[in-house]
Amino acid sequence: MTFSRTIKIAPSILSADFANFGAEIRAIEAEGADWVHVDVMDGHFVPNLTFGPAMCKAIRPHVGTVMDVHLMIAPVDPWIEAFAAAGADVITAHLEAGPHIHRTLQAIRATGKMAGLALNPGTPAEAAAELIDMVDLICVMTVNPGFGGQRFIDMTAKIRALRKMIGDRPVHIEIDGGVTPETAPLVAAAGADVLVAGSAVFTGGSVENPAPYGANIAAIRTAAETARG
Ligand code: DX5
Ligand code: ZN
Repeated sequence: MTFSRTIKIAPSILSADFANFGAEIRAIEAEGADWVHVDVMDGHFVPNLTFGPAMCKAIRPHVGTVMDVHLMIAPVDPWIEAFAAAGADVITAHLEAGPHIHRTLQAIRATGKMAGLALNPGTPAEAAAELIDMVDLICVMTVNPGFGGQRFIDMTAKIRALRKMIGDRPVHIEIDGGVTPETAPLVAAAGADVLVAGSAVFTGGSVENPAPYGANIAAIRTAAETARG
């Protein structure tokens, strides 16, 4: 995948119909999604439980773009191989998930997949300083992870600090949580290029009526691109 800082919209299937992931993914891609964001939760690192590598493997044939796997699990390391084998393109681990995030990022890179580092709202940008050359993506959480549909927490100053830290490196800044056409301009102007959106993409649409997905994706993209100037 060639690196680019153009705005990418990554719908989170956490807000999709859990009985119909394949069709939901085909629908959002047909309606303009750039990446597909997959939220893996363990009921331990975060207070919610979703799905694991078997589900990722099952949906992989339906993903024509980028499968962006966000691991909200602890420990992470025992699962990296399984998510790589399941076909993830990006594997993101949380800095807060254990004492050895450096080792975790090494292990993700060793699979040949893109390595992502997620930062909870309470974690400062500076915590990423020693890891910046080991990652392909930094995910700035703009909610406390665990659930879709939460209110956006303004992390604009942190995004700007990370953008400065990244400089010319080919590292994406992804925003996850509470992204809407109203909040997208703030994060895009601060330097984000991958915008995860769950409820704001899936609201109003369905597999049978996917046009609202397209309108929702377009609204977020336009708001973000306009703020970029
Ligand atoms: C939160 C997840 C997000 C979530 C975003 O723990 O990591 O990806 O699905 O959902 P919205 O866009 O509804 O805040
Ligand atoms: Zn996520």
